[in-house]
Amino acid sequence: MTQTTQPIQQAAAIVARAHRLTALVGAGLSASSGIPTYRGPGGLWTRQRPRQGAPPLLSYQEFVRDPAAWWQARLAAETDPSHPIYQMKQAVDQAAPNPGHLALAQLEQRGILHCIITQNVDNLHAAAGSRAVLEIHGNRNRLRCLQCHRRTPRNTQTPQNPPQCQQCNGLLKLDTVMFGEPIPPDVLQACRQAAEQSDCMLLVGTSGTVNPAARLPLLAKENGATLIEINPEATPLTPWCDLSLTGPADAILPQLLNSI
Ligand code: APR
Repeated sequence: MTQTTQPIQQAAAIVARAHRLTALVGAGLSASSGIPTYRGPGGLWTRQRPRQGAPPLLSYQEFVRDPAAWWQARLAAETDPSHPIYQMKQAVDQAAPNPGHLALAQLEQRGILHCIITQNVDNLHAAAGSRAVLEIHGNRNRLRCLQCHRRTPRNTQTPQNPPQCQQCNGLLKLDTVMFGEPIPPDVLQACRQAAEQSDCMLLVGTSGTVNPAARLPLLAKENGATLIEINPEATPLTPWCDLSLTGPADAILPQLLNSI
């Protein structure tokens, strides 16, 4: 009787042979750190689907229309326990890296994972020890200047309203990319290059529904990469994948690490 190789073992063999392994990560990886997803079962947009476009305070147009008013409303929302922004901030403030984040950091430390492209803004990859992380949707702990793109830690924010860049006096916003905001060109270029150069890409906990991130696996595939999806559910990216590991990333990634 031929021994059927388990999908985890198949994936481990592919990953072990890869020369430039990348991972495209979505909210599903942080789900077991207590941070709600957006579109999965019980996700933020699943529960409170944005009626007309983006929910309040998450729209780029709203921000550029009146930055001072936006910052004032944002700071008020962050101290109002009844506001969804307060509740999300609490969840992320209290979140810690889970075994999935730690396994990705281990894969990097062992020289197997070349870089992570994350859609998450929760800083949990850095907290887990990952260093090669491209944050395509920004990072909640940083501010970004709209003029010179300089990024600074949010806790150094001046009391000015709206806060201004100390390098060029440009307008500062949260580094987190908002609905309708273009992805900063520097990080988008780096993500595209990482995808083009990878020969294997793990798709971890993403619904594969938000561009340009969702196009990166296809760009990798066009350049010959093998795609391995890690998700309890099928997604629009599943048909493009060579292998699907069905289940939670915080269980599957450590199993994958231990099988290499
Ligand atoms: N392990 C792996 N995957 C999981 C887990 C888990 N424990 N729990 C849920 N998932 C999967 C869901 O099945 C779903 O496919 O994670 C995915 C989460 O999808 P989304 O909530 O759409 O998150 P994401 O793909 O990261 O969204 C992309 O949309 O709103 C914007 O900027 C936001 O970065 C976000 C982007």
